[in-house]
Amino acid sequence: MECKKKGSCQLLSKIATNEQHGENSSYFDGWKAYDNDPFHPIRNPNGVIQMGLAENQLSFDMMEEWIRKHPKASICTSEGLNMFKYIANFQDYHGWADFKNALARFMGKIRGDRVSFDPDRIVLAGGATGASEIIMFCLADSGDAFLVPTPYYPAFDRDLKWRTGVQLLPVICNSSNNFMITKEALEEAYENAQKSNIKVKGVIIANPSNPLGTTVDKETQKMLVNFINDKQIHLVCDEIYSATVFRRPNFVSIAEIIQETECNRDLIHIIYSLSKDMGLPGFRVGVVYSYNDGVVNCGRKMSSFGLVSSQTQHLLASMLSDDEFIDEFLKENAKRIAERHFTFTKGLEEAGIKCLNSNAGLFCWMDLRPLLKEQTFDAEMELWRQIITDVKLNVSPGFSFHCVEPGWFRVCFANMDRETLDIALKRIKNFVKGAGKKKERKNSGKRIIFELVFQNEEDVTMKKHEFTKSYHANVMSPHSPISQSQGQDLIMIIKHDH
Ligand SMILES: Cc1ncc(COP(=O)(O)O)c(C=O)c1O
Repeated sequence: MECKKKGSCQLLSKIATNEQHGENSSYFDGWKAYDNDPFHPIRNPNGVIQMGLAENQLSFDMMEEWIRKHPKASICTSEGLNMFKYIANFQDYHGWADFKNALARFMGKIRGDRVSFDPDRIVLAGGATGASEIIMFCLADSGDAFLVPTPYYPAFDRDLKWRTGVQLLPVICNSSNNFMITKEALEEAYENAQKSNIKVKGVIIANPSNPLGTTVDKETQKMLVNFINDKQIHLVCDEIYSATVFRRPNFVSIAEIIQETECNRDLIHIIYSLSKDMGLPGFRVGVVYSYNDGVVNCGRKMSSFGLVSSQTQHLLASMLSDDEFIDEFLKENAKRIAERHFTFTKGLEEAGIKCLNSNAGLFCWMDLRPLLKEQTFDAEMELWRQIITDVKLNVSPGFSFHCVEPGWFRVCFANMDRETLDIALKRIKNFVKGAGKKKERKNSGKRIIFELVFQNEEDVTMKKHEFTKSYHANVMSPHSPISQSQGQDLIMIIKHDH
């Protein structure tokens, strides 16, 4: 918490000033850089392009068309105004039955109707953000811990920890197996917690993963269920990106896994939201879906703190109940994400940049390890600052996702139009080309070794100056891309003639 006047923090609570809000993370720094100099194709074509926001802006046209065709669904049209008084007054924290029924069916549809959801188990919350906090409040006390595989969504640090006092302990995953969660890593994190006398209350995962853009396979999920069942701790699955899966392997929900795997269902909870799959983060529709009656009952009371507005429930109840529209929307949306992903990763490939092979999400996990000066987080930070200030792209460094390997960056591709994406790709290509040339210069420069023989110190200074001048004049043309300040590429062995 920033306190403008010295000492004013003392006036606030410990929670308000405990710095756990996570906004000091470099993930948010990039947003600030964008805010100060935002790209606009005409007004600010050299501005920073925002590639740090996992937003889905690819399918608004479909939604707008539906809204235009269904004026009754909105209370702000002459066709829908008759519902105004009722909707404006609706405030039941159980949520509107029509909306919860439609939402439960929608959640089933995304999972290919292989599972069904009971509307009475749905607890509404202000986005997945509100939902995650509710679940933490229900499951853990301050000081207790949840295990979370790395790399993970940076705002988990704020959403899960800040106001609850819960700790997050990393389960280390790395690129050797494409960042998959292993039993060994889980056991190690659990044992480390026990050695430190920290009570582990559960494991939380995001499936599909943010930032990896990969789905968690069946076997891994079964292993997770067995792990938490053995330890009698909870498993929370954030499935906010479930309908962003655009190619095989298909998404498998934890709801399907527990149909096949024996476990105590009281330990299983799902977090969901319409922010990504429907591209509606501003509507703040979040869900806790728990198989545990106690969590449903308590969570529902807590949802009073962040209700989904009745106007939103009313509109979406109609939209989500329109099967034909929803089927088409989900199909087309996934197709558009797939196309975006293909265009973007192909462009990166042309620039020589590889990404983790992914099948979901609104971003790529870009491997810039070859561009690091050295394999350290300092070098990652240096490269990231260069990408923001020189390339003018706000991408998010792996460090802010608690990735243990330096050099990985998350880049979002669905929060902009195609033209902006092309400009971003062009900037990346130019940057990589420039970085490659620099490397070449460094290597070739080092090969140019001159031996100069001098009489005395004065002679050294004078001849060095003359030689450098004539070297630049003769060896480099005025249009040489090698800047004049790069004289260090020229190596002189200075020998004194005694
Ligand atoms: C994994 C994950 N969980 C939760 C959220 C928060 O979503 P919401 O906008 O619904 O609060 C995000 C948003 O980026 C996310 O990536």
